[in-house]
Amino acid sequence: MQIKLTRIAQKKTADLEIVLFKEASKISDKKLKALINQGIKKDQKYFLFSTGDKASLYIQLNFDSKKAHSLEKCRLAGSEAFDTVMKLRAKTVSISNNWNESFLIAFTEGLMLSAYQFLKYKKEAKKLKHPFTEILLKTTEITKASIEELKHVVTAVYHARNLVNEPLSFLTAVQLAKSLKQIHSKLNVKVEIFNKKKIESLKMGGLLAVNKGSVDPPSFTVLTYKPKNAVNKKPLVFVGKGVVYDTGGLSLKPTANSMDHMKCDMGGAAAVGCATYAIAAAKLPVYTITLVPATDNRPGGNAYAPGDVITMHSGSTVEVLNTDAEGRMLLADALHFAKQFKPMLVIDAATLTGAALRSIGQQGVCMMGTADEKMKSLVREAGYHVHERVAELPFWDEYEDMLKSDIADIKNIGGAFAGAITAGKFLQHFTDYPWLHFDIAAMGWMYQRDGYRLKNGSGVGVRLFYKVAKMIAKSKK
Ligand code: BES
Ligand code: ZN
Ligand code: ZN
Repeated sequence: MQIKLTRIAQKKTADLEIVLFKEASKISDKKLKALINQGIKKDQKYFLFSTGDKASLYIQLNFDSKKAHSLEKCRLAGSEAFDTVMKLRAKTVSISNNWNESFLIAFTEGLMLSAYQFLKYKKEAKKLKHPFTEILLKTTEITKASIEELKHVVTAVYHARNLVNEPLSFLTAVQLAKSLKQIHSKLNVKVEIFNKKKIESLKMGGLLAVNKGSVDPPSFTVLTYKPKNAVNKKPLVFVGKGVVYDTGGLSLKPTANSMDHMKCDMGGAAAVGCATYAIAAAKLPVYTITLVPATDNRPGGNAYAPGDVITMHSGSTVEVLNTDAEGRMLLADALHFAKQFKPMLVIDAATLTGAALRSIGQQGVCMMGTADEKMKSLVREAGYHVHERVAELPFWDEYEDMLKSDIADIKNIGGAFAGAITAGKFLQHFTDYPWLHFDIAAMGWMYQRDGYRLKNGSGVGVRLFYKVAKMIAKSKK
């Protein structure tokens, strides 16, 4: 299910005509102008007029074009407009705006992202599917390339949401690998899937330990996108946590209902896997490699147990003191695996800790790592631009002391405090390159509808990492 998006001549009509305006003085119809001016005095921003089976919706977007936050206001306006589209059961919607391309794109993005539905498991899917299928952009101010880019990004977010919303009964680790392969099948992306045998031969002890309690095998997916015109010789490497379901293992999740949405624990894999889709579909000149270690985490017969000592892919040993701190076990193996590529930068994304959610709530994602200040500020700027805001946590050496083990090189949990940071410090142990870790636990899953992010799988990270790659491409030119 995707919304068709085309730029068209002014004359064609749609079920709902949306007119985005900055100031009412520019509206030529005198009667409309008077009505709108009256409303503006009462702080009204949306004006719906309908005659017969045609309707028009005037929306004022009088925001400061220099502020990144204005783009978010436009996306939210798009999300609000979607509710009108639904009320009218409109099939086609036209949007006109001839004064600001960025506002038009952001508004359209908000509208398109709001139109996502996940109906795979509904018997009455046909009935429940909304009729909205087409957007006509009535403007000369938007380039074909921008339209194509928007389509790719929205499709990528849809893919990511589908993956997160899929339950474990379908999306096992092997299926996650297959789905990633399918998503990239028409693109210039090489997909390699390692099965359990291969993972064993690579001695990925962390991934295998988490998988021990499961009856389903693990998987490890490598996506390589190497365009001829790449601006970088050393790859940009993405790593995503692919825990397709997290029960906590033998350290079973304690809180009532805390397991209900743990199918979202592959949100990091969905974010980086689908950002890769957008990067390749938009043909960004950035050489990228994306790694997705995947398994479920269960307390089955042979499950790894608190007290176990695991030899990781790197050769380091880890004392497991909580089997619910499983994400870092498989990410550690993937981060060590990444060393062979001599990456310019490694970005990992993971729904890693409840502590990240407790630190900053659902307003952004936590970032920490060893990349230089220039890269961090690029990432921060990207975050503001797409409104997947990035909050950097302290990453002082002293936090590392909290991971000291009596018996092994390191243990897999810190103390009662700074849980998001000690998780990051654990990962750092397995890196030797510029690296940024994103704990997206806070935003991977929405408990209530949040504008165009909707409810359930949000697809967070896709737009952020696409934007980061695009900015890297620009900065290297
Ligand atoms: N998958 C969870 C983190 C999580 C929490 C994701 C809420 C999404 C929403 C992770 O594997 C986990 O269980 N982390 C533990 C770590 C602890 C045992 C050190 C946590 O945060 O409680
Ligand atoms: Zn866990
Ligand atoms: Zn987890």
